[in-house]
Amino acid sequence: MEDKKIIIAIDGHSSTGKSTVAKQLAKALGYIYIDTGAMYRAITLYAMRKAIIGPLHFEKEKLEEVLPEINIRFEVNLKTGIAEVLLNEENVEREIRTLEVSKYVSKIATISSVRKKLVEQQNEMGKDKGVVMDGRDIGTVVFPNAELKLFMTATAKDRAERRYIELKERGEDVSYEDVLKNVVNRDHIDSTRKDSPLRKASDAIKIDNSNLTLQDQFEQIVVLAKNAIKNA
Ligand code: DC
Repeated sequence: MEDKKIIIAIDGHSSTGKSTVAKQLAKALGYIYIDTGAMYRAITLYAMRKAIIGPLHFEKEKLEEVLPEINIRFEVNLKTGIAEVLLNEENVEREIRTLEVSKYVSKIATISSVRKKLVEQQNEMGKDKGVVMDGRDIGTVVFPNAELKLFMTATAKDRAERRYIELKERGEDVSYEDVLKNVVNRDHIDSTRKDSPLRKASDAIKIDNSNLTLQDQFEQIVVLAKNAIKNA
């Protein structure tokens, strides 16, 4: 008998390596990987380009007004096999990963109308199951009945170090202090916002990967996923 397909929800703090493990897991299981952070980042990029958000201002009402004009979808990159995000049909996969976008995205993600739009789309994408979805509210709001929920965390210092290396490798001119500040600031905004704050679902399995190698972590998670599929 063919295995039942399940939903795997991976939530946690910024830069905990959620997307790395989610991608590996989706590949190993033949599931679809959905990076919900990319959707919030794409809306943020749109708002930055339209000068709706900037260092000293944020026009929330304007964002709500233009929201219907924003179309977000994923398209698989045939070379890598990974889904990349399209903003109104433009591939923005690279642009959304800058520290600049990271600085504004948590603010954009506090807006309920933005969350409502994206959560509806995420529900639709997961309706046939067989997905690994990562974000902040997947196990609590988007798929509260997900068969497997993971909550990933690590110290802010460890996360900032990893993120700093990643941004440097991509050629961004950033300082470690700025990256650490961004990680701490996003934790604060994501965890204290009114709508769908970042929380560990009571039935989520917590994984602190401060002292785990990527390989060790992946092996642990594959075992959890296979068990969850067997028990579904
Ligand atoms: O996973 P990420 O760092 O790319 O996410 C960027 C931001 O988007 C994060 O700081 C908070 C927000 N986000 C959210 O509020 N809900 C999600 N499901 C995913 C991301």
